[in-house]
Amino acid sequence: MDLQRLQGTLDHLPPESGRWAALEQVIRAVMARFGFGEIRSPIIEPTELFARGTGESTDIVQKEMYTFLDRGDRSITLRPEGTPSVVRAYLEESLGAQRPLWKLYYIGPMFRAERPQKGRFRQFHQFGAEMIGAAGPNADIELIALTLAIFRELGLTDTRLVLNSIGSPDARAVHNTDLRAFLHRKPIWDGICNDCKRRADTNPLRVFDCKVERCLEIIAEAPTIDAYLTTEDQEHFARVKQGLIDLGIDFGIDVRMVRGLDYYTRTTFEVKSGALGAQDSICGGGRYDLLVETFDGPPTPAVGFAAGMERVLAALDESGTFPVSEPPLDVFVCALGQRAVATSPNVLARLRDLKLAADGDFLGRGLKAQMKEANRRGARCAILIGDDELDKGQFVLRQMDDSTQSEIPADLNQWDATMFGGRRA
Ligand code: HAM
Repeated sequence: MDLQRLQGTLDHLPPESGRWAALEQVIRAVMARFGFGEIRSPIIEPTELFARGTGESTDIVQKEMYTFLDRGDRSITLRPEGTPSVVRAYLEESLGAQRPLWKLYYIGPMFRAERPQKGRFRQFHQFGAEMIGAAGPNADIELIALTLAIFRELGLTDTRLVLNSIGSPDARAVHNTDLRAFLHRKPIWDGICNDCKRRADTNPLRVFDCKVERCLEIIAEAPTIDAYLTTEDQEHFARVKQGLIDLGIDFGIDVRMVRGLDYYTRTTFEVKSGALGAQDSICGGGRYDLLVETFDGPPTPAVGFAAGMERVLAALDESGTFPVSEPPLDVFVCALGQRAVATSPNVLARLRDLKLAADGDFLGRGLKAQMKEANRRGARCAILIGDDELDKGQFVLRQMDDSTQSEIPADLNQWDATMFGGRRA
C-alpha cells in the first residue's frame, strides 16, 4: 500500500491510546473539581473566526491554517486553537445573558500546518479552559492553579511556570513605538537579521522570539513592556503574583515572553517542561479582555489556557510516570473443539453481563497458545472448556497466578462475579 498518514499526524494505538484515555480522565476530573464544564465545539469554523480572533498578524493565520472552500463558496478552516470557538459560542448562544461567569473546558484536536518536528505536529491535541466574565486577578490565579493541579495529578514534575504582563493596548502601543524606534537605530538596524528587520515593521514584539545569537545580544538592550504598564496593569499583575505566592506556586518572570497569538491583554503565562527539548512549552495562556468585543460582543473580560497533550505525554514519558498500560482482563475463555467454541460467545456474554472484562480466542488456536494469550493479557483466571467439560456440565477455572484449578458449573445462571475474583475497581 502506498498510502501513508500525512506528515505531522500520528496514529495512537493500544496500549498508548489507553494512556490518552487515562489522561483525559484526569483532565475531566480536575476540571470538574474546579467547576469547569465541557464545551464541545465544531472542528471546522468559518475562516474569519480565526483571522479576526487569533489575529491577522500571527504566524498561525499567516501561514499555518488548513483552509479550504466548502463546495466552492464558503471559506472554512480546521481550528488551529480553541479560544475563538469558545468566544463564538459564548456570543452565539448568548451565554452572557444567562450567567455572568462561564467556566468552560475542551479537549480535542487542533490543526496547524507547521514544520513537523519533535513535539510539533500538524494535527495535535489540546486540553484548554476558558473563564469568561471575570476581570479580577483571582480568575488569572484560578486558571494557573487549575493548569498546575492537572500536571500535579498526572505526576508531572520538572515544570516551570513563566509569567509576564503585556498590559493594556495603550501601554503596548507606546512600547511598540519605542521598540520600533530602537530597532531602527543605526547600529542596531545593521546588526539584526533580516527576519527581525521584517518584524520591526510588522510586529516588533516578535523580535524577542528571535533565536539568532547576535540578535539576542542586541535585543537584550531593547525596551521591554514592564516599563510601560499602566498603574492598573501593574496593580493587577502584582495581585496575580501575590496570589500565586500565597498558594505556594513558584514562578519566574520573563518580560520578553512573546505569545504567538494577538488577543492577549495583561497576564500571559507558559508552563515549560525540563524534560523536553526545543519544544518545551507544554501550556500557554493568558488574559484576553478584548476578544469578545472584537466579535462585536459587550465588554467581557476573560482568561484561559491550553496545553499540548502530545507534549504533556512526552514529558511524562521522560519522567517515567503515568505509564502505558493495557487494562488487564478478569477472565480469558479457552475453548477447544467445535462444541466448546460454539458456546464461547454465550460464556463471554455472561461474564460481561457480570461486568467482568472478558475475552476469548477468535483464531482457533490450541490450548497452549490460548493460555499464552491469557497470560499476555494479564487475565486473573481462565475458564477451560472442552468436550469433556461440556459432557460433565462442569467447566475448569484456572487461577493464572498459581495455576490452581477448580470446577465451576456449566450453567451460566449460577455464576456471579465473585467466582472469578470479583470486579476490578
Ligand atoms: P498556544 O500557545 O498556541 O496557545 O498553544 C498551547 C499549547 O499547545 C502549546 O503550549 C503547546 O503545548 C501546544 N501546541 C501548539 N502548537 C502545537 C503543535 N504544532 N504541535 C504540538 N503541540 C502544539 C493557544 O492555543 C491558546 N488558545 C491558549 C489560550 C487559551 N489562551 C487563552 N485561552
